[in-house]
Amino acid sequence: MPVLTLKSRSGLRFIWLEETASTNDYLRLHSKEMQDPITLAVAEYQTKGRGATGAWQSERGANLLFSLLTHPTTVEAKDIFLLSQMACLSVCRGLEALSKGGFSIKWPNDIYWRDGKVVGILIENELQGRRVADCVVGIGVNVNQRSFGKELPNPTSLAIIEGRELDRTLVLEAIVEEFSSLYTALCEGDHEGIRQGYLKRLFRKGERHGFCDSRGEFMATLETVEPTGHIVLRDDEGRRRRYAFKEVQHII
Ligand code: BTN
Repeated sequence: MPVLTLKSRSGLRFIWLEETASTNDYLRLHSKEMQDPITLAVAEYQTKGRGATGAWQSERGANLLFSLLTHPTTVEAKDIFLLSQMACLSVCRGLEALSKGGFSIKWPNDIYWRDGKVVGILIENELQGRRVADCVVGIGVNVNQRSFGKELPNPTSLAIIEGRELDRTLVLEAIVEEFSSLYTALCEGDHEGIRQGYLKRLFRKGERHGFCDSRGEFMATLETVEPTGHIVLRDDEGRRRRYAFKEVQHII
């Protein structure tokens, strides 16, 4: 399969793949030889695209499938959720710059517009002692696809939201630009700015909605997400409920 190494407008090393199994897998395989601050790999099509709970499906040439490799060695393992927050915030900001806005971050790291999922993010980290040696942020943006499989959870796309086709390169550039500047902020220690940016855009924050945990469905108000990544809910009996990833889901 052809591999092209290009430079983006913002000067980033940029690997373009006509087809690959998964851009996350590609960067993880080559992570040790890619020591630039940020390396970007983009694919037109993935044969084994991965999502948080299974395969990530995407029509060939309609969407954006890419991953960003960084080496955030200043980030301690206990602060690892900052990488998710930074990734979500950069995608939201990038999309806000090109569209009518209204995007939110559904805990832990989906990007929604109203009740539809526009972007999925898969983050894979490699730790070295207490530090993060490699971080691969995989991003799938539904750009121009208009119909989706019934099994997908609440899919939508930028084309459906905006009522027009979008230039995928512009969407990519906008997200990557935000990612670069937030990554610099992260390395310079602006943890609080990133956390606040994430919380400000948090889907259904302060609202009462349905959730589902291992014991069943219940109504609760989403109070916050802690720096550790735990979500904190207040149920109708006034009880505080705190959950880690995958222990609770929104009902949409
Ligand atoms: C999710 O399930 O919400 C996360 C989906 C992440 C998909 C992207 S597409 C580019 C990168 N490569 C992968 O195999 N997955 C991520």
